[in-house]
Amino acid sequence: MVLKVLPATEADAPRAASIESIAYGPNPISNALFPTTTSSAASSSSSSSSSSNPRATQLIDQLRADPSCRWVKVIDTDLQARGEEAMVSFAKWFIWDTPQPPAPPQEWGPGTNPEACEMFFGGMRERRNARFAGKPFVFLKLLHTDPKHQRRGAASMLLKWGAQEADRLGLDSYLEASPEGRPLYEKSGFQVVDTFVADFSKWGGPAEHHTALMVRPAST
Ligand SMILES: CC(C)(COP(=O)(O)OP(=O)(O)OC[C@H]1O[C@@H](n2cnc3c(N)ncnc32)[C@H](O)[C@@H]1OP(=O)(O)O)[C@@H](O)C(=O)NCCC(=O)NCCS
Repeated sequence: MVLKVLPATEADAPRAASIESIAYGPNPISNALFPTTTSSAASSSSSSSSSSNPRATQLIDQLRADPSCRWVKVIDTDLQARGEEAMVSFAKWFIWDTPQPPAPPQEWGPGTNPEACEMFFGGMRERRNARFAGKPFVFLKLLHTDPKHQRRGAASMLLKWGAQEADRLGLDSYLEASPEGRPLYEKSGFQVVDTFVADFSKWGGPAEHHTALMVRPAST
């Protein structure tokens, strides 16, 4: 069972969306943020085309919109040799090696709860804008591993890919950690610099959901 890091392309978008949906599973936060897409996305197959998969289409649109966006995947070469679905983990990085204008407010599409999304993702966007105003940085936006392949080191390999890019460019790296991801990020050199607390009680979720905002300092 050999794992290998490769660039991911638009053709990988449906599988990336499928892994994301299985990895997060139905949970109170996803239900609040994406009340009508959580169940349908979870059942979409990895082989479905991006045109029939709104999340895959959205990922592709975002990739095309920013040339600094990089997709990276881990494949299992044994699965590949057997002709099975080989992609087990996916990461989406932004390598912003020049200062960026503040990220603008986003439009929340079909299936979302725009109020909850703006409170959660919009709130973190504002923290990010404030922290990195006028500074280049590397941002890990997405990271998820198929639960069948978790704890095999796949996510660590994708983090290492980003760390190498950041070190090559001498940049800080930044991410917003799920509680599940935090131990992994700490192992990879990220430190908590702030905590974003969100109240999902209006939509049946927790009144205090903590997201660790983490930085891996540029290597000197
Ligand atoms: C977090 C996640 C990406 C980890 O993926 P993974 O491929 O299993 O990670 P790795 O195998 O590289 O784990 C490396 C180390 O991180 C830590 N780690 C990983 N998952 C962990 C978990 N669920 N709980 C505690 N520690 C964990 C462990 O120290 C692990 O090393 P070990 O297996 O030798 O103990 C995966 O659990 C996932 O997709 N979760 C759901 C989505 C999510 O929360 N993504 C993070 C968004 S910020």
